[in-house]
Parts: sequence; C-alpha cells; structure tokens
Amino acid sequence: MENRRPLIAGNWKMFKTCSEAVEVAEQLVKLVNDMTDGVDVMIAPPFTALAPVSDIVRKSCVSLGAQNLFWENEGAYTGEISSAMLVSAGCRYVIIGHSERRQYFGETDEAVNKKIMAAIKNDLIPILCVGESEKERESKDTFSVLDKQVKNGLKDFVLDDLKTLVIAYEPVWAIGTGKTATSDQAQEIHLFLRSMLEKSFGNMLSKSTRILYGGSVKPDNVSELMAMPDIDGALVGGASLDPETFSKIVHFNK
Ligand code: PGA
Repeated sequence: MENRRPLIAGNWKMFKTCSEAVEVAEQLVKLVNDMTDGVDVMIAPPFTALAPVSDIVRKSCVSLGAQNLFWENEGAYTGEISSAMLVSAGCRYVIIGHSERRQYFGETDEAVNKKIMAAIKNDLIPILCVGESEKERESKDTFSVLDKQVKNGLKDFVLDDLKTLVIAYEPVWAIGTGKTATSDQAQEIHLFLRSMLEKSFGNMLSKSTRILYGGSVKPDNVSELMAMPDIDGALVGGASLDPETFSKIVHFNK
C-alpha cells in the first residue's frame, strides 16, 4: 500500500438528530480511541449535528467530515453551506459528488469540480466519489463512466492542488444493497483510477492518493477488501451508524 495511511470514513447520510449523533459519537470515541494503529477515522454526520459532534471528537482520533458543500464562500444562496462554515464547525474532510447527490439532486461533474476547488481553498480534504450504475456496468460502460467522472471532476486542477485528495470508488449498485463488489472487482477499478491519476498528474500523486472503496462495507468483508494493494480504506454508509459495528470496521487489521 506504499505510504498511504488507511482511512475508514463513515457517511451518516440523513440519519440522526443532534442528540442521537452525540450519543453515537461518544460511544465511538470510547471504542476506537488510542486503538486505531495508523488508521485515520472520519465520521460525516448531517450538517445540523456537526458542531455538537465536533465537541465530542475534538480531542480524539476521530476526525469530522461533512457530506456536501456549496462552492461560494458566502452570499444569497438560501439553504446552502460553504466550506468556510464547515471549517468553523470543526470539519477536516468533505464528501463531494456522492452518487445520491448526483442521482437525487442533479449534481453534475461541473458542480463537483467547483466544490472540490472550494474545499481545497479552505484546507478541507475532499473525498471525490465516483461510481457506475448497474445499467452502466451491464452495458460495459464502467471504465468510460469513471474516466469521465474523474476527468471532469478534476478538470483544471494542477498537481499542487490535489495533494490531500481522496477518491472513493462506490459502485452505485453496491450502495445500501448488501451487494459488494468482490475484492478483485474493486481492485481492478482502483488500479484503473490510480493509472488515470498517473496519466494526468504523474507518478507521485498516483502513488500517494488514497482510494477508498464504498458500497455495503461491513465488518465481515472489510479485511478482504483492505488486503488489496490499491484499496486504501472504506467509505461506509449503513454500517457506520452503529458505533460497535463501525469500530469493528475501523479495527479491520486486528
Ligand atoms: P452503504 O453506503 O455502506 O450503506 O452501502 C455507502 C455510501 O453510500 O457511502
């Protein structure tokens, strides 16, 4: 895995009120603190719970992330949240271009590109999500879909901008369905993504960029996935909502 520090990230989606989120974060911190052995851990609660959860995780090994942002810093954009606001709420990471945002909220590659730029300018670590739908996989379009998502998402960036970039490969057919890509299937795609980075930005970035797998990651499949040379972590949805289950995923190497 070269020198890439594994990252286990929890995407809580639209789950948990403030008090529920605080409770889960408190339990999680107890379960994972001081035991992460070189693994980075991040949780992304809904916007409303960011500040209270930030107070819980601040002195722990768990980092805070957001699930989305808007690319302007401030302005008359009712209902939107800027990267500066996320930083002020304690965030270090932000998930960008999740397939649910693309699917239900019409998020385009162009918007994803602007959001990544805004994140980087404010020193947030962007997690760019890419992935093909079931139909696209069946029609053998997986590689062309990913090629387009990555090229457009990272359009006009230079190497220096992307030093902290994280990519998450999340096949849409595996999200929340219980169907996981096999570790070989995922490895093939991760290698492809890494070779894309190499072609566009050079060997150094391709070797240092963490590429996470997401889609029905659970305690019983995480170790096999993590054993693959180009899988550097996991973006976990459903299984991140329960602190016991998520901590088992964090401890995949135990
Ligand atoms: P899942 O979601 O683990 O529930 O499949 C993953 C994600 O959407 O990030």
